[in-house]
Amino acid sequence: MLKKIAVFASGNGTNFVALQQAIQTRPIPAEIALLVCDQAEAPVIKKAQADGIPVLVVNFRDYATKADAEAIMLSALQREHIEAILLAGYMRIIGQTLLTAYPHKIINIHPALLPQFPGRRGIEDAFEAGVTETGVTIHFIDAGIDTGQIIGQRTVPVMADDTLDSLAARIHQTEHQFYPDVLQSLINKGAI
Ligand code: GAR
Repeated sequence: MLKKIAVFASGNGTNFVALQQAIQTRPIPAEIALLVCDQAEAPVIKKAQADGIPVLVVNFRDYATKADAEAIMLSALQREHIEAILLAGYMRIIGQTLLTAYPHKIINIHPALLPQFPGRRGIEDAFEAGVTETGVTIHFIDAGIDTGQIIGQRTVPVMADDTLDSLAARIHQTEHQFYPDVLQSLINKGAI
């Protein structure tokens, strides 16, 4: 049985593509059965459509509250029988509606070694702090910003001649390997 997962994303979707390619080429018993996106113009939408993956775009401005928006998401997730959610560059805090519906089944990838450098600027903040090592964290989410039980971390060196772009590229490369590895291991362990 393939584990039905949803990916939530707000932007480019390179992690979405890495997950989808890994699922297609490796023995990962999963299927991305839904992409949820909160930005109508995000490039990730076309990437999902190109693979025939159903897309739900939720424009938060159309809803009075986060709970209202998440209720729409939840009906789509339930309709598609989604068992776990992978956040991949989804730039919003998940609210109580989804946390309650998917306890310990929502996972996030963050481009820094949490608890250092949480938030939207994990790569920039680490670069500007002048650290010699940063990395990638994958964790279950809770109601906080990039908090929640850490599943795993991979370190990424910061080179003396790095620019923000070269460091970001190295971090993204690590993310694209690491997220599929973690997905595979969580499914194999029966954790999601
Ligand atoms: C990724 O680097 C991800 O770790 C980060 O957004 C990027 C999305 O890239 N997430 C966060 O910063 C969450 N706090 P992508 O759209 O190309 O996958």
